[in-house]
Amino acid sequence: MANGITPTEPSMHFSPDLITPSLPVPHHATATPIFQSSSFLFDSYAQIADVFAGRSDRYIYSRGDNPTVSELEALIARLEGTESARGFSSGMAAICGAVMPFVTAGDRIVTVEHIYSDAFRLFETVLKRFGVSVTYVDGRDTQALIDALPGAKLVYLESPTSWTFRLQDVAAVGEAARRLGVISVIDNSWATPIFQTPAALGIDLIVHAASKYLSGHSDTLGGLVAGPKALIGKIDHEATHLYGGRMSPVDAFLILRGMRTLELRMQAHRDSGLYLARRLADHSLVTAVHHPGLLVERPKGLTGFGGLFAFDLADGVDVEGFCNALRVVRIGVSWGGPESLMVPGQAACGLAGAANSFRRFGVSPRTIRLAVGLEPVAVLEQDVLNAISSAQRAAA
Ligand SMILES: Cc1ncc(COP(=O)(O)O)c(C=O)c1O
Repeated sequence: MANGITPTEPSMHFSPDLITPSLPVPHHATATPIFQSSSFLFDSYAQIADVFAGRSDRYIYSRGDNPTVSELEALIARLEGTESARGFSSGMAAICGAVMPFVTAGDRIVTVEHIYSDAFRLFETVLKRFGVSVTYVDGRDTQALIDALPGAKLVYLESPTSWTFRLQDVAAVGEAARRLGVISVIDNSWATPIFQTPAALGIDLIVHAASKYLSGHSDTLGGLVAGPKALIGKIDHEATHLYGGRMSPVDAFLILRGMRTLELRMQAHRDSGLYLARRLADHSLVTAVHHPGLLVERPKGLTGFGGLFAFDLADGVDVEGFCNALRVVRIGVSWGGPESLMVPGQAACGLAGAANSFRRFGVSPRTIRLAVGLEPVAVLEQDVLNAISSAQRAAA
């Protein structure tokens, strides 16, 4: 490896589908074309009648299906090892699509502390308004998670969690949920199918914020849900057609283009992230590093790591001074692109509005979330270390 790290796990799977289109492409093009059409034509009454009656699967209207979006859906389903998948206009639209069609007033869902802040807001505001209750469990406690399942409709995991990067025993929860008839959902945006395939661990529905690593270039938003035909059928009927937050053909094209380099990019994010996490863990002015690769116990079912992690600055370092001293790492939300970005916990804790997950679950104002991009890792290391030492002086 260029930065001297030995990969933690050599078992990444390669899929030729990542590189070239799998569906027949007009004129044998190497890249999937953008089918920028809202509607599709029929030559006769019989054709449209057949489609309406479900006797033919021709394209009708792009809120239902579109060939460019279908190509991406087929690709993510193959990578995740599921029967089917559906594309949405953002990761949040995908989370809504994976959860809302399955719950009704009086139901209860189980989830983990420190889930993505807007998933938390969705559960706390919209779901609760519609009479769905939510149980939050420390996801590191597998038995507590399993004990919360009886009587629940759905369990929603995010392994690792946002900001604190806590893992769940995905296989144990998946098995228990299946035994108890509870639908299981996981946000797999951080690991991507390159490092974690939750369907193989017994999880029903896999959600992706494709805005992150899958697209990989910070130039688009998108979401995906992969799972068995029966569950995707229900999502299809309700979320894709009726909520209408469908992925556009251009976004599907951009995500497909990004995914052609997914495997290489994930190797770089993994190696640089782990290198910086280890370097910061040894730093006298860093009190904690939140990165699953630093756990003594080997994470189950996870064969590699995303480049997003967090660390806590010691009291002697001024958080604001640290942020302003960075020269290469930029201040900005989101992650998964080529540029390194950071968000200070101090600002996130001050997020306006109801249902602030940072305050609710106790994210430290001294936590810095760092999305390690694709710059040379030595440049990033220098930048972060310089910023720590200049902020130390500012605090002094
Ligand atoms: C872990 C995680 N899941 C889901 C989302 C939502 O994705 P989107 O911004 O595309 O709606 C995000 C966005 O930051 C995220 O960090």
